[in-house]
Amino acid sequence: MKILAIDTSCDDTSVAVVEKKNNQIRTISNIVSSQIKIHAPYGGVYPMLAKREHQRNLVPVCKKALQNAKLLNLKLKTKNEKPQVKIKKLRIILKRDELLLKNTEKFLLKHEKPKVGAIAITNGPGLEPCLWQGVNFAKALAFWWDLPIIPVNHIKAHLSANWLSPISGNHKSEILNTKRAQFPAVGLVASGGHTELIYMPKTGQYKLIGSTRDDAAGECFDKTARILGLPYPGGPAIAALAAKKESGIKNQELLNSKGITESEANGSWRIELPRPMLHSKDFDFSFSGLKTAVLYNFKGNNKTAWAKEIQQAIIDVLIHKTLKAAEKFNAKSIIAGGGVMANKELRKQFKNKIKSTKLRSTFHVPRYRLCLDNAAMVGACALLDKPKAIAWPASNASGQPAVDTAFLAGVANAGWQKIKVNGNLKI
Ligand code: KG4
Ligand code: ZN
Repeated sequence: MKILAIDTSCDDTSVAVVEKKNNQIRTISNIVSSQIKIHAPYGGVYPMLAKREHQRNLVPVCKKALQNAKLLNLKLKTKNEKPQVKIKKLRIILKRDELLLKNTEKFLLKHEKPKVGAIAITNGPGLEPCLWQGVNFAKALAFWWDLPIIPVNHIKAHLSANWLSPISGNHKSEILNTKRAQFPAVGLVASGGHTELIYMPKTGQYKLIGSTRDDAAGECFDKTARILGLPYPGGPAIAALAAKKESGIKNQELLNSKGITESEANGSWRIELPRPMLHSKDFDFSFSGLKTAVLYNFKGNNKTAWAKEIQQAIIDVLIHKTLKAAEKFNAKSIIAGGGVMANKELRKQFKNKIKSTKLRSTFHVPRYRLCLDNAAMVGACALLDKPKAIAWPASNASGQPAVDTAFLAGVANAGWQKIKVNGNLKI
């Protein structure tokens, strides 16, 4: 069964089509429209601007995802075109989203129902005004096409990205297979809004064992990057700077030309930032102290050394805490995800560190692009987890909905109208 998946949890508008086949979750299409350029001048995501962009982007992104999956078909023209009762109801569902309504109405009237069995949608955690855009759009599609909706937790979706095989169909062995036993597992989600450690006894079972008490790891990258005068998003900017060699600083001429004394330069070689809560007994994190230390001590010079130390401090904490959790829970695998996991140095050090310990865990991390927000991971999550909270269309005008009955067996009709957004949804 194919699933149409949608994610609008933050500043990316994404729609994907995924399918489960031979115990693998296949990405058929995965379109992401990034808003980075729009938010960069603000140094972070501006929620109301993001909401407006989702309204503008959802329909074109959805069309592209369906088109790439060869599921976009124009309606044949017939006389009796406008189903007035249906349109009236659609207008109620999207009554607060004027631009989205206009685009959606036009799209639905012009196109056939695509051959998908359900719609998966992120309903939290995330930025509420943004989440609502995706959820209302999903409700509109579910109503119009008579399809069930599967609400998905964004954190679980980040972990589920590890099960996605690429669009090309070639897959590397490390991509998780729905049959291969990898449990119990410990999950790490490090993104712009979250840093969480999760115990996973089986596929689809999650227990939160630790989370950040203040800033998330990605937020720490973003905020310290801003202090260093680097562009948004801070993670990739710090990573790029940290990858540079610092040899120039040793050159006396260069030091003189920059007006930096040798002792200042040497001092900056020894920048030592705190590793907050590294040795605390729990699995919680804290990154705000690291940010404050940068704020008070960065004097504007030797940015490369600062970037290296900021990145290393975050890496040290993430790896240490995750391995401690893996040891405690006898994890057969460590499953990571979230935007920060796109960091090359972090991925490299994770692999090396696991090799150098007695741990028997295998390490899994999605391909770079799939660490960042995307809708394919939302579809993967809906297919992996037993869909307890699945919501059927309330009215089933066309008789049986085109759903895979085996997939939906035993699932109650929750009524898609009841799906709510929760910006602080827990795992
Ligand atoms: O998962 P994501 O796309 O969105 C959220 O759900 O938050 O993560 C975005 C975060 C941002 O804070 C960004 O700075 C960080 O991921 N990020 C990185 C890298 N690429 C993105 N952090 C460190 N290194 C990177 N290469
Ligand atoms: Zn995310």
